[in-house]
Amino acid sequence: MEDKFSWGVSTAAYQIEGAHNIHGKGASIWDVFANTPGKTHGNQHANVSCDFYHHYAQDIALMAQMNISNFRFSLSWSRIIPGGTGAVNPDGIDFYNKVIDFCLDLGIEPWVTLYHWDLPYSLELKGGWTNREIINWFTVYVQLCLKLFGDRVKHWMILNEPMVFTGAGYFMGIHAPGRKGLTSFLAAAHHAALCQAEGTRAARAIRSDATIGTTFSCSLIEPYTSSDNDQYAATKLDALANRMFVEPLVGKSYPVKDFKLLNRLENFVKDGDEAKLAANVDFIGIQNYTREKVTHSYMVPLLWAKVVKASKRSVDHTLMDWEVYPPAIHSMLHQFSSYGKPLIVTENGAAFNDIILNNAVHDHQRQQYLQMHIEQVLKAKQEGVDVRGYFVWTLLDNFEWAEGYRPRFGLVHVDFKTQKRVIKYSGHWYANFLQSHGESALQLSRTA
Ligand code: BGC
Repeated sequence: MEDKFSWGVSTAAYQIEGAHNIHGKGASIWDVFANTPGKTHGNQHANVSCDFYHHYAQDIALMAQMNISNFRFSLSWSRIIPGGTGAVNPDGIDFYNKVIDFCLDLGIEPWVTLYHWDLPYSLELKGGWTNREIINWFTVYVQLCLKLFGDRVKHWMILNEPMVFTGAGYFMGIHAPGRKGLTSFLAAAHHAALCQAEGTRAARAIRSDATIGTTFSCSLIEPYTSSDNDQYAATKLDALANRMFVEPLVGKSYPVKDFKLLNRLENFVKDGDEAKLAANVDFIGIQNYTREKVTHSYMVPLLWAKVVKASKRSVDHTLMDWEVYPPAIHSMLHQFSSYGKPLIVTENGAAFNDIILNNAVHDHQRQQYLQMHIEQVLKAKQEGVDVRGYFVWTLLDNFEWAEGYRPRFGLVHVDFKTQKRVIKYSGHWYANFLQSHGESALQLSRTA
Protein backbone atom coordinates (compact mmCIF):
# COMPACT_ATOMS: atom_id res chain seq x y z
CA MET A 1 0.00 0.00 0.00
CA GLU A 2 1.09 3.57 -0.57
CA ASP A 3 3.51 5.19 1.84
CA LYS A 4 1.77 8.50 2.38
CA PHE A 5 -0.13 9.31 5.58
CA SER A 6 -3.90 9.65 5.13
CA TRP A 7 -5.92 11.99 7.33
CA GLY A 8 -9.68 11.66 7.30
CA VAL A 9 -13.01 11.16 9.02
CA SER A 10 -15.06 7.99 9.58
CA THR A 11 -18.81 7.35 9.52
CA ALA A 12 -21.17 4.37 9.27
CA ALA A 13 -24.27 3.86 7.13
CA TYR A 14 -26.85 3.11 9.81
CA GLN A 15 -25.67 5.96 12.02
CA ILE A 16 -26.01 8.70 9.37
CA GLU A 17 -28.03 7.70 6.31
CA GLY A 18 -31.65 7.64 7.46
CA ALA A 19 -33.96 6.80 4.51
CA HIS A 20 -34.45 3.46 6.21
CA ASN A 21 -37.30 2.15 4.11
CA ILE A 22 -37.37 4.04 0.84
CA HIS A 23 -36.08 3.45 -2.70
CA GLY A 24 -36.07 -0.30 -2.29
CA LYS A 25 -33.99 -0.61 0.88
CA GLY A 26 -34.62 -3.74 2.95
CA ALA A 27 -34.73 -3.76 6.75
CA SER A 28 -31.53 -4.37 8.69
CA ILE A 29 -31.18 -5.80 12.19
CA TRP A 30 -30.61 -2.27 13.46
CA ASP A 31 -33.84 -0.99 11.83
CA VAL A 32 -35.74 -3.71 13.66
CA PHE A 33 -33.86 -3.52 16.98
CA ALA A 34 -33.99 0.27 17.33
CA ASN A 35 -37.68 0.34 16.44
CA THR A 36 -38.46 -2.20 19.16
CA PRO A 37 -39.50 -0.43 22.41
CA GLY A 38 -37.02 -0.66 25.26
CA LYS A 39 -33.90 -1.38 23.25
CA THR A 40 -32.28 2.05 22.92
CA HIS A 41 -32.01 5.22 25.00
CA GLY A 42 -35.41 6.93 24.80
CA ASN A 43 -36.50 4.41 22.15
CA GLN A 44 -34.54 6.40 19.60
CA HIS A 45 -33.76 4.99 16.17
CA ALA A 46 -31.98 6.10 13.01
CA ASN A 47 -34.96 6.09 10.65
CA VAL A 48 -33.94 9.64 9.70
CA SER A 49 -30.83 10.49 11.77
CA CYS A 50 -28.72 13.07 9.83
CA ASP A 51 -30.46 12.06 6.61
CA PHE A 52 -27.13 11.75 4.82
CA TYR A 53 -29.06 9.91 2.09
CA HIS A 54 -30.56 13.23 1.04
CA HIS A 55 -27.76 15.52 2.24
CA TYR A 56 -24.71 13.65 0.94
CA ALA A 57 -23.76 16.37 -1.55
CA GLN A 58 -23.89 19.07 1.10
CA ASP A 59 -21.95 16.92 3.57
CA ILE A 60 -19.24 15.94 1.10
CA ALA A 61 -18.89 19.60 0.10
CA LEU A 62 -18.55 20.43 3.79
CA MET A 63 -15.71 17.92 4.06
CA ALA A 64 -13.95 19.52 1.12
CA GLN A 65 -14.38 22.89 2.81
CA MET A 66 -12.76 21.39 5.93
CA ASN A 67 -9.72 20.15 3.93
CA ILE A 68 -10.70 16.53 4.63
CA SER A 69 -9.31 14.41 1.81
CA ASN A 70 -10.23 10.88 3.01
CA PHE A 71 -13.79 9.84 3.82
CA ARG A 72 -14.49 6.47 5.46
CA PHE A 73 -18.11 5.35 5.17
CA SER A 74 -19.86 2.00 5.13
CA LEU A 75 -22.22 0.39 2.65
CA SER A 76 -25.59 -0.74 3.87
CA TRP A 77 -25.88 -4.35 2.74
CA SER A 78 -29.70 -4.19 2.83
CA ARG A 79 -29.72 -1.07 0.62
CA ILE A 80 -27.73 -2.95 -2.01
CA ILE A 81 -29.25 -6.44 -1.61
CA PRO A 82 -32.52 -5.84 0.31
CA GLY A 83 -33.03 -9.50 1.22
CA GLY A 84 -29.35 -10.13 2.04
CA THR A 85 -29.07 -12.58 -0.86
CA GLY A 86 -30.60 -12.53 -4.32
CA ALA A 87 -31.98 -9.50 -6.12
CA VAL A 88 -30.03 -6.25 -6.05
CA ASN A 89 -31.55 -2.80 -5.61
CA PRO A 90 -30.60 -0.42 -8.46
CA ASP A 91 -31.56 2.66 -6.41
CA GLY A 92 -29.21 1.62 -3.59
CA ILE A 93 -26.37 1.08 -6.03
CA ASP A 94 -27.14 4.42 -7.64
CA PHE A 95 -26.91 6.16 -4.25
CA TYR A 96 -23.43 4.80 -3.51
CA ASN A 97 -22.29 5.57 -7.06
CA LYS A 98 -23.34 9.17 -6.51
CA VAL A 99 -21.56 9.36 -3.14
CA ILE A 100 -18.35 7.87 -4.57
CA ASP A 101 -18.39 10.00 -7.71
CA PHE A 102 -19.08 13.20 -5.81
CA CYS A 103 -16.20 12.46 -3.42
CA LEU A 104 -13.85 11.91 -6.34
CA ASP A 105 -15.11 15.09 -8.08
CA LEU A 106 -14.13 17.06 -4.97
CA GLY A 107 -10.76 15.33 -4.56
CA ILE A 108 -11.86 13.19 -1.61
CA GLU A 109 -10.68 9.57 -1.47
CA PRO A 110 -13.46 7.11 -0.51
CA TRP A 111 -12.53 4.45 2.08
CA VAL A 112 -15.31 1.88 2.22
CA THR A 113 -16.27 -0.45 5.06
CA LEU A 114 -18.26 -3.42 3.80
CA TYR A 115 -19.94 -4.26 7.10
CA HIS A 116 -20.59 -1.81 9.93
CA TRP A 117 -23.13 -3.82 11.93
CA ASP A 118 -26.34 -3.50 9.86
CA LEU A 119 -26.99 -7.09 8.76
CA PRO A 120 -30.01 -7.54 6.48
CA TYR A 121 -32.86 -8.61 8.77
CA SER A 122 -33.88 -11.46 6.48
CA LEU A 123 -30.47 -13.04 7.14
CA GLU A 124 -30.96 -12.70 10.90
CA LEU A 125 -34.18 -14.68 10.47
CA LYS A 126 -31.97 -17.49 9.18
CA GLY A 127 -29.64 -17.24 12.18
CA GLY A 128 -27.55 -14.24 11.18
CA TRP A 129 -23.93 -14.43 12.25
CA THR A 130 -24.58 -17.70 14.12
CA ASN A 131 -25.31 -19.49 10.84
CA ARG A 132 -22.15 -20.64 9.07
CA GLU A 133 -23.92 -19.97 5.77
CA ILE A 134 -23.05 -16.32 6.40
CA ILE A 135 -19.67 -16.99 4.87
CA ASN A 136 -21.35 -17.59 1.51
CA TRP A 137 -23.87 -14.76 1.89
CA PHE A 138 -21.12 -12.34 2.82
CA THR A 139 -18.72 -13.46 0.09
CA VAL A 140 -21.32 -12.89 -2.62
CA TYR A 141 -22.06 -9.43 -1.21
CA VAL A 142 -18.34 -8.55 -1.08
CA GLN A 143 -17.77 -9.71 -4.65
CA LEU A 144 -20.72 -7.65 -5.85
CA CYS A 145 -19.49 -4.48 -4.10
CA LEU A 146 -15.98 -4.83 -5.45
CA LYS A 147 -17.35 -5.34 -8.96
CA LEU A 148 -19.69 -2.37 -8.68
CA PHE A 149 -17.40 0.16 -7.01
CA GLY A 150 -13.84 -1.23 -7.18
CA ASP A 151 -13.03 0.73 -10.34
CA ARG A 152 -13.16 3.92 -8.24
CA VAL A 153 -12.83 2.81 -4.59
CA LYS A 154 -9.23 1.82 -3.87
CA HIS A 155 -9.39 1.41 -0.07
CA TRP A 156 -11.60 -1.22 1.53
CA MET A 157 -12.28 -2.47 5.04
CA ILE A 158 -13.98 -5.83 5.40
CA LEU A 159 -15.54 -5.63 8.90
CA ASN A 160 -15.94 -2.97 11.54
CA GLU A 161 -15.00 -4.16 15.04
CA PRO A 162 -16.09 -7.82 15.09
CA MET A 163 -15.59 -7.97 18.86
CA VAL A 164 -18.20 -5.27 19.42
CA PHE A 165 -20.90 -6.51 17.08
CA THR A 166 -20.61 -10.11 18.23
CA GLY A 167 -20.09 -9.27 21.93
CA ALA A 168 -22.75 -6.57 22.27
CA GLY A 169 -25.14 -8.10 19.71
CA TYR A 170 -24.90 -11.84 20.40
CA PHE A 171 -23.60 -12.15 23.98
CA MET A 172 -24.91 -9.17 25.95
CA GLY A 173 -27.95 -8.42 23.82
CA ILE A 174 -27.49 -4.65 24.12
CA HIS A 175 -26.95 -4.14 20.38
CA ALA A 176 -28.82 -5.60 17.41
CA PRO A 177 -29.96 -8.31 17.02
CA GLY A 178 -30.24 -8.42 20.83
CA ARG A 179 -29.30 -12.04 21.37
CA LYS A 180 -27.71 -13.25 24.59
CA GLY A 181 -25.51 -16.11 25.66
CA LEU A 182 -22.14 -17.73 25.21
CA THR A 183 -23.21 -20.14 22.48
CA SER A 184 -24.56 -17.52 20.11
CA PHE A 185 -21.54 -15.32 20.80
CA LEU A 186 -18.98 -18.03 20.05
CA ALA A 187 -20.75 -19.10 16.87
CA ALA A 188 -21.10 -15.50 15.66
CA ALA A 189 -17.49 -14.73 16.59
CA HIS A 190 -16.00 -17.70 14.73
CA HIS A 191 -18.05 -16.94 11.63
CA ALA A 192 -17.07 -13.26 11.76
CA ALA A 193 -13.40 -14.27 12.06
CA LEU A 194 -13.81 -16.51 9.00
CA CYS A 195 -15.64 -13.75 7.12
CA GLN A 196 -12.92 -11.16 7.68
CA ALA A 197 -10.46 -13.54 6.03
CA GLU A 198 -12.75 -14.92 3.31
CA GLY A 199 -13.95 -11.38 2.59
CA THR A 200 -10.35 -10.24 2.14
CA ARG A 201 -9.69 -13.08 -0.32
CA ALA A 202 -12.94 -12.45 -2.20
CA ALA A 203 -12.25 -8.73 -2.53
CA ARG A 204 -8.70 -9.31 -3.72
CA ALA A 205 -9.80 -11.89 -6.27
CA ILE A 206 -12.08 -9.28 -7.85
CA ARG A 207 -9.68 -6.30 -7.63
CA SER A 208 -6.01 -7.14 -7.31
CA ASP A 209 -5.25 -3.40 -7.28
CA ALA A 210 -7.37 -2.72 -4.15
CA THR A 211 -5.84 -1.88 -0.77
CA ILE A 212 -7.65 -4.11 1.70
CA GLY A 213 -7.78 -4.05 5.48
CA THR A 214 -10.20 -4.67 8.28
CA THR A 215 -10.77 -2.88 11.60
CA PHE A 216 -10.56 -3.78 15.28
CA SER A 217 -11.70 -2.10 18.47
CA CYS A 218 -8.95 -1.92 21.06
CA SER A 219 -8.44 -0.41 24.50
CA LEU A 220 -5.34 -0.31 26.64
CA ILE A 221 -6.13 -2.85 29.37
CA GLU A 222 -4.43 -2.45 32.74
CA PRO A 223 -4.98 -4.17 36.10
CA TYR A 224 -6.81 -2.03 38.67
CA THR A 225 -4.35 -3.07 41.39
CA SER A 226 -1.09 -4.96 41.20
CA SER A 227 -2.67 -8.07 42.78
CA ASP A 228 -2.15 -11.35 40.91
CA ASN A 229 -5.90 -11.68 40.47
CA ASP A 230 -6.23 -8.28 38.83
CA GLN A 231 -3.26 -8.94 36.58
CA TYR A 232 -4.78 -12.23 35.51
CA ALA A 233 -8.07 -10.43 34.85
CA ALA A 234 -6.26 -7.90 32.67
CA THR A 235 -4.50 -10.59 30.65
CA LYS A 236 -7.83 -12.32 29.98
CA LEU A 237 -9.60 -9.14 28.95
CA ASP A 238 -6.73 -8.12 26.69
CA ALA A 239 -6.96 -11.53 24.96
CA LEU A 240 -10.71 -11.14 24.53
CA ALA A 241 -10.99 -7.44 23.68
CA ASN A 242 -7.78 -6.81 21.75
CA ARG A 243 -6.40 -10.07 20.40
CA MET A 244 -9.24 -12.50 19.69
CA PHE A 245 -9.95 -11.39 16.10
CA VAL A 246 -6.66 -9.98 14.87
CA GLU A 247 -4.49 -12.94 15.87
CA PRO A 248 -6.25 -15.61 13.79
CA LEU A 249 -6.20 -13.17 10.84
CA VAL A 250 -2.41 -12.88 10.98
CA GLY A 251 -2.01 -16.65 11.33
CA LYS A 252 -1.59 -16.94 15.10
CA SER A 253 -4.95 -18.60 15.88
CA TYR A 254 -7.19 -17.62 18.82
CA PRO A 255 -5.41 -16.54 22.05
CA VAL A 256 -6.76 -19.51 24.03
CA LYS A 257 -3.62 -19.75 26.16
CA ASP A 258 -4.46 -16.45 27.85
CA PHE A 259 -8.23 -16.95 27.97
CA LYS A 260 -9.13 -20.62 28.31
CA LEU A 261 -12.84 -20.08 27.70
CA LEU A 262 -12.05 -19.45 24.04
CA ASN A 263 -11.34 -23.18 23.79
CA ARG A 264 -15.09 -23.52 23.42
CA LEU A 265 -14.82 -21.97 19.96
CA GLU A 266 -13.79 -25.50 19.02
CA ASN A 267 -17.48 -26.42 18.95
CA PHE A 268 -17.86 -24.31 15.81
CA VAL A 269 -14.51 -24.97 14.16
CA LYS A 270 -14.51 -27.31 11.16
CA ASP A 271 -11.59 -29.11 9.53
CA GLY A 272 -9.42 -26.68 7.62
CA ASP A 273 -10.72 -23.57 9.40
CA GLU A 274 -7.37 -22.75 11.02
CA ALA A 275 -5.85 -21.99 7.63
CA LYS A 276 -8.98 -20.21 6.42
CA LEU A 277 -8.87 -17.79 9.36
CA ALA A 278 -5.64 -16.23 8.11
CA ALA A 279 -5.52 -13.72 5.25
CA ASN A 280 -3.04 -11.32 3.79
CA VAL A 281 -4.44 -7.88 4.59
CA ASP A 282 -2.65 -4.74 3.40
CA PHE A 283 -3.35 -2.90 6.63
CA ILE A 284 -4.90 -3.30 10.06
CA GLY A 285 -7.36 -0.62 11.18
CA ILE A 286 -7.26 0.12 14.89
CA GLN A 287 -10.02 2.00 16.69
CA ASN A 288 -9.05 3.28 20.09
CA TYR A 289 -10.91 5.59 22.43
CA THR A 290 -9.71 4.86 25.94
CA ARG A 291 -7.96 2.77 28.57
CA GLU A 292 -9.75 0.26 30.81
CA LYS A 293 -8.77 -0.72 34.35
CA VAL A 294 -9.82 -4.26 35.20
CA THR A 295 -10.35 -6.06 38.45
CA HIS A 296 -11.07 -9.66 39.37
CA SER A 297 -14.76 -10.19 40.11
CA TYR A 298 -16.92 -13.13 41.20
CA MET A 299 -19.94 -11.20 39.93
CA VAL A 300 -19.18 -11.64 36.24
CA PRO A 301 -19.57 -15.28 35.24
CA LEU A 302 -17.25 -16.73 32.58
CA LEU A 303 -14.86 -13.79 32.54
CA TRP A 304 -14.51 -13.37 36.34
CA ALA A 305 -13.32 -9.85 35.71
CA LYS A 306 -14.93 -6.44 35.49
CA VAL A 307 -14.01 -3.02 34.22
CA VAL A 308 -13.87 -0.26 36.83
CA LYS A 309 -15.66 2.66 35.21
CA ALA A 310 -13.76 5.92 34.73
CA SER A 311 -16.30 7.90 36.81
CA LYS A 312 -15.72 5.49 39.72
CA ARG A 313 -11.99 6.10 39.43
CA SER A 314 -12.47 9.90 39.45
CA VAL A 315 -10.51 10.38 36.26
CA ASP A 316 -11.23 12.72 33.37
CA HIS A 317 -13.85 11.04 31.16
CA THR A 318 -16.18 11.57 28.21
CA LEU A 319 -19.99 11.37 28.09
CA MET A 320 -19.64 7.64 27.40
CA ASP A 321 -17.81 7.31 30.74
CA TRP A 322 -14.62 6.49 28.87
CA GLU A 323 -11.41 7.74 30.45
CA VAL A 324 -9.53 10.41 28.50
CA TYR A 325 -6.09 8.86 28.39
CA PRO A 326 -4.15 9.72 25.20
CA PRO A 327 -1.15 7.42 25.90
CA ALA A 328 -3.56 4.50 25.32
CA ILE A 329 -3.51 5.04 21.55
CA HIS A 330 0.29 5.14 21.60
CA SER A 331 0.41 1.82 23.50
CA MET A 332 -2.12 0.19 21.19
CA LEU A 333 -0.16 1.26 18.11
CA HIS A 334 2.91 -0.39 19.60
CA GLN A 335 0.96 -3.51 20.60
CA PHE A 336 -0.61 -3.92 17.15
CA SER A 337 2.64 -3.16 15.34
CA SER A 338 3.86 -6.57 16.53
CA TYR A 339 1.60 -8.12 13.86
CA GLY A 340 3.90 -6.75 11.16
CA LYS A 341 1.30 -4.91 9.05
CA PRO A 342 0.89 -1.21 8.31
CA LEU A 343 -1.60 0.31 10.76
CA ILE A 344 -4.25 2.94 10.23
CA VAL A 345 -6.16 4.57 13.06
CA THR A 346 -9.55 4.14 11.43
CA GLU A 347 -11.42 5.69 14.40
CA ASN A 348 -10.64 7.94 17.36
CA GLY A 349 -12.82 10.63 18.89
CA ALA A 350 -14.94 11.67 21.85
CA ALA A 351 -18.44 12.59 23.00
CA PHE A 352 -18.81 15.63 25.26
CA ASN A 353 -21.61 18.02 26.13
CA ASP A 354 -21.11 20.68 23.49
CA ILE A 355 -21.77 24.29 24.44
CA ILE A 356 -23.71 26.23 21.83
CA LEU A 357 -23.53 30.04 22.01
CA ASN A 358 -24.57 32.47 19.26
CA ASN A 359 -24.72 29.71 16.66
CA ALA A 360 -21.16 28.57 17.42
CA VAL A 361 -20.26 25.26 19.05
CA HIS A 362 -17.55 25.58 21.67
CA ASP A 363 -16.32 22.01 21.99
CA HIS A 364 -12.88 22.74 23.38
CA GLN A 365 -12.71 19.39 25.17
CA ARG A 366 -13.10 17.52 21.88
CA GLN A 367 -10.47 19.69 20.21
CA GLN A 368 -8.04 18.95 23.05
CA TYR A 369 -8.85 15.27 23.00
CA LEU A 370 -8.13 15.06 19.27
CA GLN A 371 -4.94 17.08 19.46
CA MET A 372 -3.56 15.00 22.34
CA HIS A 373 -4.37 11.75 20.55
CA ILE A 374 -2.88 12.91 17.25
CA GLU A 375 0.30 13.86 19.12
CA GLN A 376 0.48 10.32 20.51
CA VAL A 377 -0.03 8.83 17.05
CA LEU A 378 2.79 10.97 15.64
CA LYS A 379 4.98 10.03 18.58
CA ALA A 380 4.47 6.32 17.84
CA LYS A 381 5.25 7.02 14.18
CA GLN A 382 8.48 8.78 15.13
CA GLU A 383 9.41 5.77 17.22
CA GLY A 384 9.13 3.58 14.13
CA VAL A 385 5.57 2.25 14.26
CA ASP A 386 4.33 1.88 10.69
CA VAL A 387 1.16 3.94 11.06
CA ARG A 388 -0.16 5.40 7.81
CA GLY A 389 -3.36 7.19 8.64
CA TYR A 390 -5.66 8.75 11.20
CA PHE A 391 -9.43 9.12 10.89
CA VAL A 392 -11.54 11.10 13.36
CA TRP A 393 -14.73 9.49 14.59
CA THR A 394 -16.77 11.29 13.30
CA LEU A 395 -17.86 13.89 10.76
CA LEU A 396 -21.43 14.51 11.94
CA ASP A 397 -23.25 14.11 15.24
CA ASN A 398 -25.25 10.94 14.68
CA PHE A 399 -27.08 7.96 16.12
CA GLU A 400 -24.79 6.43 18.74
CA TRP A 401 -26.33 2.93 18.70
CA ALA A 402 -27.99 1.94 22.00
CA GLU A 403 -27.13 5.38 23.43
CA GLY A 404 -29.27 7.17 20.84
CA TYR A 405 -28.55 10.83 20.02
CA ARG A 406 -27.30 11.97 23.44
CA PRO A 407 -23.57 11.39 22.93
CA ARG A 408 -22.38 13.68 20.15
CA PHE A 409 -19.06 12.72 18.57
CA GLY A 410 -19.15 14.99 15.48
CA LEU A 411 -16.76 17.64 14.19
CA VAL A 412 -19.96 19.09 12.79
CA HIS A 413 -23.02 19.79 14.92
CA VAL A 414 -26.34 18.53 13.58
CA ASP A 415 -29.71 19.93 14.59
CA PHE A 416 -31.80 16.79 14.12
CA LYS A 417 -35.03 18.81 13.79
CA THR A 418 -33.89 21.10 10.98
CA GLN A 419 -30.93 19.06 9.63
CA LYS A 420 -28.84 22.22 9.89
CA ARG A 421 -25.07 21.60 10.07
CA VAL A 422 -22.65 23.88 11.97
CA ILE A 423 -18.91 23.20 11.98
CA LYS A 424 -17.79 23.00 15.61
CA TYR A 425 -14.67 24.61 17.06
CA SER A 426 -12.99 21.16 16.82
CA GLY A 427 -13.97 20.96 13.15
CA HIS A 428 -12.39 24.33 12.41
CA TRP A 429 -9.32 23.24 14.34
CA TYR A 430 -9.04 19.98 12.35
CA ALA A 431 -9.50 21.90 9.09
CA ASN A 432 -6.64 24.26 10.01
CA PHE A 433 -4.50 21.37 11.19
CA LEU A 434 -5.02 19.57 7.89
CA GLN A 435 -4.16 22.68 5.94
CA SER A 436 -0.89 23.34 7.70
CA HIS A 437 0.37 21.53 10.77
CA GLY A 438 -0.78 18.07 9.72
CA GLU A 439 1.74 18.04 6.95
CA SER A 440 4.58 19.74 8.80
CA ALA A 441 4.12 17.58 11.90
CA LEU A 442 4.53 14.60 9.64
CA GLN A 443 7.57 15.95 7.90
CA LEU A 444 9.07 16.32 11.35
CA SER A 445 8.31 12.71 12.13
CA ARG A 446 9.82 11.61 8.81
CA THR A 447 13.13 13.36 9.42
CA ALA A 448 13.40 12.26 13.07
C1 BGC B 1 -17.92 2.22 16.31
C2 BGC B 1 -18.77 3.42 15.96
C3 BGC B 1 -19.22 4.10 17.25
C4 BGC B 1 -17.98 4.59 17.96
C5 BGC B 1 -18.27 5.33 19.28
C6 BGC B 1 -16.97 2.43 17.43
O1 BGC B 1 -17.06 1.35 18.29
O2 BGC B 1 -17.29 1.70 15.17
O3 BGC B 1 -19.83 3.01 15.16
O4 BGC B 1 -20.13 5.12 17.04
O5 BGC B 1 -17.15 3.51 18.28
O6 BGC B 1 -18.91 4.50 20.18
